Amino acid sequence: MVNELLDGAVAAARAGGTVLARYFRDASLQAETKAPNDPVSEADRESERVILGTLRERFPEHQILSEESGRVGESSGAFEWVVDPLDGTSNFLAGLPIFAISVACRHRGETVVGVVLDPCRDELYTATRGGGSFLNDRPLQVSSRPSIGGGFIATGYPFRARGALDVYLAIFREIFLETRSIRRCGAAALDLAHTAAGIYDGFFEFRLSAWDVAAGALLIAEAGGVVTDLDGGQSWLDSGNVLAGPVPVHADLVRLVARHASESVVELADPRSAALPG
Ligand code: IPD
Ligand code: CA
Ligand code: CA
Repeated sequence: MVNELLDGAVAAARAGGTVLARYFRDASLQAETKAPNDPVSEADRESERVILGTLRERFPEHQILSEESGRVGESSGAFEWVVDPLDGTSNFLAGLPIFAISVACRHRGETVVGVVLDPCRDELYTATRGGGSFLNDRPLQVSSRPSIGGGFIATGYPFRARGALDVYLAIFREIFLETRSIRRCGAAALDLAHTAAGIYDGFFEFRLSAWDVAAGALLIAEAGGVVTDLDGGQSWLDSGNVLAGPVPVHADLVRLVARHASESVVELADPRSAALPG
């Protein structure tokens, strides 16, 4: 069954990738804003249509949670797909070739398949629960860095949650002072895939959505790493607060973050308190 799910996830992601390749750097592509700093375009929507079409054709009984359509399908089913049809929309619309498609399949609340496709580089990241993580056909392992010291770390800014900015900057400062460099490339699913591949030594970002992280988190777990919320717990899919990396780097991230935030800190935990007018 898991192979069928993986094939479906790969077919769906590739279908989305074809759509994105067609729209990328098309000067006539129009964008609207869903919320301040939160653009969406026909590329997001058409990618989502073909991904959902592929999944529905193969798995008509399964529920789907997707960024632009929300939840569709049977709510009582054991399987749920979690889809981001274009992760890195701002990059995409600016013509920056750093974006991805993220497709995960969850069974009774546990992610069993995760696929992240970087269509610009034809890099396909796949993972199945218990079956390891791969980039194209190469097995992946998280970095072997023994601590956060000197690490090459990825992050994302809380641009939709500006109320979280002060806490984020305090944490950024702590991590900045311990590491070699911090990157913000603008596509969380790719940041997670690159962490699974050992390119980054760790990743932290707050207030993400399930579709940003579901697939990438399995890639990291299956590459030998850890993904948790701010407290080292497992509420990250709900809270969107993600600390990820190899075991020792992750432990340092938890330690540094704990000086400034926890899952109960209101600015990070409650979306309504953090939303700012445009
Ligand atoms: C966004 C990207 C970005 C992250 C945001 C996400 P989108 O996804 O992953 O890197 O910082 O929080 O929402 O909106 O481009 O799909
Ligand atoms: Ca996203
Ligand atoms: Ca998206």
